[in-house]
Amino acid sequence: MFRDRLCRRRRLIPASADRFAAARMAVGNTFGIEYCVANEPRRPRGSHTIGRLVGVAMADTRSATINNPLKKLYIETVGCQMNMLDSELVVAALRKRGYTLVNTPRDADAILFNTCSVRQHAEDKIYSALGRLKHAKTHHPHKVIGVLGCMAQNHQKQIFERAPFVDLVVGPGQLHQVPDLIEQVAKDRQPRLEVSLDRKAGTRNQVASSFESYDPLRDPEMRPTPYQAFVRIMIGCDKFCTYCIVPKVRGPEQSRSPEQILAEARQLAAEGCREITLLGQTVNSYRHRDGERTTRFSDLLAMLHDVEGIDRIKFVTNYPKDMTQDVLEAVRDLPKICRYLHVPAQSGSNRILERMKRLYTVEEYREMMARIRETVPDCAVTSDFIVGFCGETEEDFEQTVRLVEECRFKNSFIFKYSPREGTKGYELYTDDVPEEVKKRRNNDLLAIQNRISEEDNQPFIGREVEILIEGPSKRAAKQQSPQPAPVSPVADSSLPIVGQASTGQDNGACGSDCGCDDTGHDHEHGQLIQLTGRTMCDRIAVFDGNPRLIGQIMPVRIYDANAFTLFGVVVTQHAGPEVYSLSLS
Ligand code: 5AD
Ligand code: SF4
Repeated sequence: MFRDRLCRRRRLIPASADRFAAARMAVGNTFGIEYCVANEPRRPRGSHTIGRLVGVAMADTRSATINNPLKKLYIETVGCQMNMLDSELVVAALRKRGYTLVNTPRDADAILFNTCSVRQHAEDKIYSALGRLKHAKTHHPHKVIGVLGCMAQNHQKQIFERAPFVDLVVGPGQLHQVPDLIEQVAKDRQPRLEVSLDRKAGTRNQVASSFESYDPLRDPEMRPTPYQAFVRIMIGCDKFCTYCIVPKVRGPEQSRSPEQILAEARQLAAEGCREITLLGQTVNSYRHRDGERTTRFSDLLAMLHDVEGIDRIKFVTNYPKDMTQDVLEAVRDLPKICRYLHVPAQSGSNRILERMKRLYTVEEYREMMARIRETVPDCAVTSDFIVGFCGETEEDFEQTVRLVEECRFKNSFIFKYSPREGTKGYELYTDDVPEEVKKRRNNDLLAIQNRISEEDNQPFIGREVEILIEGPSKRAAKQQSPQPAPVSPVADSSLPIVGQASTGQDNGACGSDCGCDDTGHDHEHGQLIQLTGRTMCDRIAVFDGNPRLIGQIMPVRIYDANAFTLFGVVVTQHAGPEVYSLSLS
């Protein structure tokens, strides 16, 4: 059965697998350049990063003839997974209009920045990037330059004031208009501003309906891998944490209907996607009402669990107060749900949590952690922390350190507080923790978390884990051409190991070392590279293997671990002429 699945997968997306491997190399195999990441080189889904999602020059035979065969698009994305998804959707819509992607602004007719406002640094980056385009715009006035997303909603006209050569400013609730707006600007050269209503500019319903959820088309080619996709289940946020700009720029919380979400998951599965990550600012607050019927988040998980072809379901970001027992039981009982919960604590001090208006106490957070540990003992938990929030004393910080030591998170994302105009915190409190103190607390907490992460990874040594293979590792992506892989330590000498020449003939019907038992297709024998993927509990693993393994779920025996990565070898067990038996982690 599994053999069928391996081969069906391979046939479903044979060409795109290679194209994606190339695309991943071109974009550096990354979701983004992250900062203050305590534990790993890539941000988990659902937390904010500074990143780039650059256009990769690719032939697009599907859309090139439709409308505008010569139009070229460059898009750069900063921020969280919501932004990654928004960019994917904008690109899909523009491809339909005949755009192809290019990887430098110099070659582009339309240059778009999909932006983030969570911290000052993210906005500064965009203004500097815009500054670098001023000259290009003077010499090539036909280029359309657009600022999309959170910063567009946050700064609105200010963007035109600071960068008068910008043509388009489009908020996250108006992204569906981008293709038409670009065309209008190209025709009349008049700048366009399209944003949603401010939170206080109308009734809740009026404001909510001015933020349109934008999920019309998917573009697998814009995703880091075709096997993984984000699925938005809600937009906006109603929590109003005092430091956070999100409720202002992303609008009121609104859950999508389960029917729409299921249809999207089925479509993704049909395209060969194996893992979906459900996105929401407070994803576990999901609740959809339709007349008498209410769908809770746990109900939605159960529905998605039935989608054939989807093998893994993750979700980010969770809000601690909404981590109800039914959600934990869904994680426990539904085997496709990843044992991984990102539940930001933000601080270990009740005084600071109150100032942040997080609406829970440290005791309540601890109680939630105890329930997670009891209900899903093998679950990895990760957190976000803000250090140096207004009024944070050494004692408050020590309490945060104690919480981290006690909860032993798989990893934590640590941010220095960045005051955001338009938030309650900005109005009410003084940003009184000096920058050097923020920096020191940040580094101290990072070091503590890294030690915990390293300790936490040690028990994996000697174990077999199931890995969804995402693509070449960063190291492999950097190498110009794949080199023969160095010999890895033997996981278990009784088992054939992919990557060890001496055991190749035992690996299945084809006799190659690619981990496949199919006799009837071509192999790139011996082309081993370092691959990367994740466990069910979101740990990153690297191991040597044939690029043809990308997109498959394989058992990997771990032989070493540091704070960020598990190192392993792919294991195949040939249990009979027809069947591969795979041990599960
Ligand atoms: N300053 C610093 N960090 C912030 N975050 C949100 N707003 C701010 C801010 N103003 C962090 C929180 C959140 C993560 C996505 O970003 O920790 O969980
Ligand atoms: Fe921001 Fe708080 Fe909403 Fe998260 S829950 S998006 S931190 S306001």
